[in-house]
Amino acid sequence: MSQQLLSNYMHTHVPLICSSPLTMSMNSRRRPPLLLLYVVFASAVAAQENDFYIVFLRDGASSERLLETHLNVLSSLKGSVNEASESLVYSYTKSFNAFAAKLSRDEATKLSNMEEVVSILPNRYHKLHTTKSWEFVGLTPNSRRNSKVESNIIVGLLDTGITPDSDSFKDDGLGPPPAKWKGCCAHSANFSGCNNKLIGAKYFKLDKRPDPDDIMSPLDTDGHGTHTSSTLAGVPVPNANLGGLARGTARGAVPRARVAMYKVCWASSGCADMDILAAFESAICDGVDVISISIGGVTGSYTSDSIAVGSFHAMRKGILTVASAGNDGPNHGSVANHAPWLLTVGASGMDRQFRSNVVLGNGLTLSGVGISTFEPRQKLYPLASGIDTAKSSDTREESRYCLENSMDPNKVKGKLVYCKLGSWGADSVVKSLGGVGTFIESDAFLDAAQIFMAPATMVNSSAGKRINDYIHSTTTPSAVIHRSEEIKIPAPFVASFSSRGPNPGTQHLLKPDITAPGIDILASYTLLKSLTGLKGDTQYSKFTFMSGTSMACPHVAGVAAYVKSFHPNWSPAAIRSAIMTTAKLMSSRVDKDAEFAYGAGQVNPTRAISPGLVYDMDDMSYIQFLCREGYNGTGIGSLVGQGPINCSKLVPVSGEDAINYPSMQLALKSQQEPTVGVFRRTVVNVGAPRSVYNATIRAPAGVEIVVSPATLTFSKALQRRSFKVVVKAKPMPDRVLVLSGSLIWRSSRYTVRSPIAVYNPWAN
Ligand SMILES: *[C@@H]1O[C@H](CO)[C@@H](O)[C@H](O)[C@H]1NC(C)=O
Ligand SMILES: *[C@@H]1O[C@H](CO)[C@@H](O)[C@H](O)[C@H]1NC(C)=O
Repeated sequence: MSQQLLSNYMHTHVPLICSSPLTMSMNSRRRPPLLLLYVVFASAVAAQENDFYIVFLRDGASSERLLETHLNVLSSLKGSVNEASESLVYSYTKSFNAFAAKLSRDEATKLSNMEEVVSILPNRYHKLHTTKSWEFVGLTPNSRRNSKVESNIIVGLLDTGITPDSDSFKDDGLGPPPAKWKGCCAHSANFSGCNNKLIGAKYFKLDKRPDPDDIMSPLDTDGHGTHTSSTLAGVPVPNANLGGLARGTARGAVPRARVAMYKVCWASSGCADMDILAAFESAICDGVDVISISIGGVTGSYTSDSIAVGSFHAMRKGILTVASAGNDGPNHGSVANHAPWLLTVGASGMDRQFRSNVVLGNGLTLSGVGISTFEPRQKLYPLASGIDTAKSSDTREESRYCLENSMDPNKVKGKLVYCKLGSWGADSVVKSLGGVGTFIESDAFLDAAQIFMAPATMVNSSAGKRINDYIHSTTTPSAVIHRSEEIKIPAPFVASFSSRGPNPGTQHLLKPDITAPGIDILASYTLLKSLTGLKGDTQYSKFTFMSGTSMACPHVAGVAAYVKSFHPNWSPAAIRSAIMTTAKLMSSRVDKDAEFAYGAGQVNPTRAISPGLVYDMDDMSYIQFLCREGYNGTGIGSLVGQGPINCSKLVPVSGEDAINYPSMQLALKSQQEPTVGVFRRTVVNVGAPRSVYNATIRAPAGVEIVVSPATLTFSKALQRRSFKVVVKAKPMPDRVLVLSGSLIWRSSRYTVRSPIAVYNPWAN
């Protein structure tokens, strides 16, 4: 189902994949439930006797000799080659010098003390974190295309697998895969195979533990990976809809690009670090151009987090990794995947919502949110409050929430039931007892539409109170829930569930970077799973709605591929810069967390292909950034895949943040004195060869921003110009978390905007 409750403590990497709905425990009910709309979060699995570890080694042997080195290291620990090969799970030999092995905790400790070993990570398991959306962001069928180059672009996704026979992956009119492609399509009983659209499909499950709810195949039994892939690169499919809603042509950002799926997320176990790393290595080696990863969880340090490490190696090979920010909003500091070489994507809403009209027996009309495709057959049905349908006085508390085994079927049969949101699936419970439909009251989760398996709708607490008052005002309460309809709402806005800054990894980097549509996105789905995944659901559809930063991520990965189709040689940093500096402005009046919610704003594909100037960077810039952040040389060395880096020998970098990022963040350093930060930046001219840019500054009250020089003059293409930005901010009141400023470089043809966020670490 496209919605589930994520309990507050689920924190590990998980593909922003949908897992089975989690029921909240009774005592967690007072907290607002966190809705994980297809956000993947990995949850650490309790350590077992012998567990999987990923062991990073110092550089040394050539890649052909690495496997031997790995066995040698393990043999010296285990005492024999036989035992070593038994414990070795996987050798990473292509991008980094590492191996995965099954070890006891003692053995892991011993290994970590060995000379050759740089670091050891316990393998964690992470959980998983469209038709209209492309029109909404301005990428229409008539937008400029570079079709020939586009068909040479390969997008790689790390996800739950894919549905090869989906209409979104038909290969009509596409030639053979580009010559650079070195990947393959895993053979498996359940997988019909690849074609010229879906050119690669592999699966990774290094723990080899059988998953009863999944199959050892790249086949998607969940729907998440099919959905994200078709949003990114699906071919146009006319007449896509869910039960008649949102009917239109479904298509991806780059319909001619090729798709490669790397299945790393499994129905029961989530997404393991060692599988994520193996998939990154494989994707890099296979020749993908852009990687999209809608998997989340709390991000570890940049030198030990599997997504950070994998994407660093991708970046070094010129591949941009786009990742979802997570669905832990609106909590502050919840943003995941915040490494400086990732493009981190939050979710925003479009100008469309799905609502059902509700009429009560007294004539009162209300409305609720959700996708209910059922047309009532009667004008009104009898109505009851869940608490009045309790099996016994002992189950009254549970029946208030329409929980399983709490209600008396005789009191539910033939009725609509009103209950409070306790766990997803009240509609299934009521239906299984012969009920007609369900009102679910909640003040959270109202911005994304839940899909229901029986007539149901979600109402806010003020509407809920009116329903409850009405029930108690008459002896024969009645009501009806109408089929959902599309209504227009103001947009864009950041989804309540979208994870927010400040960046928990560093005070010197604004994250998320950008937002894209991630609410009620229609895209391809699997026929292997019902729409809700709930007991008794018999609804199946080739297309469905999902919500989450998981859905926003492939939108931006698609735009990255679109930009690359015009500029095949641009670096990952240049592509990210183009996407960020051309974003559509969002409003801090609508979203009070401002840049911490939306980064640079909402992605704007057709402008992103001509940014004028870009903030470029190479891997050395990131290494310097890590040195400045206080990472030790050994850790950085293991990230880079070589011996320890001597930070003191690098060319010193100056400035507040030591990075040429397209956004700026100044964290206040004092509650009494003004804080001053100097940001040094360099831009490359990728627009008209001869051009002049003038700076425009927007500074919020209490903040002074000065840029020098204030004019940049270019006489040729690819010329570089440097400038500095001095930001001086007064102490801020405790109630203010972030203030928004910006620097805009304007020429006669281009507008290049960088957000400048001033962050108050003392905010409460
Ligand atoms: C997978 O293949 C096996 C063997 O052919 C078959 O029994 C099973 O039903 C298939 N499962 C799915 C989900 O297609
Ligand atoms: C609650 O929902 C009703 C629609 O039934 C709407 O008119 C009202 O504005 C909503 N209240 C809040 C606080 O959102």
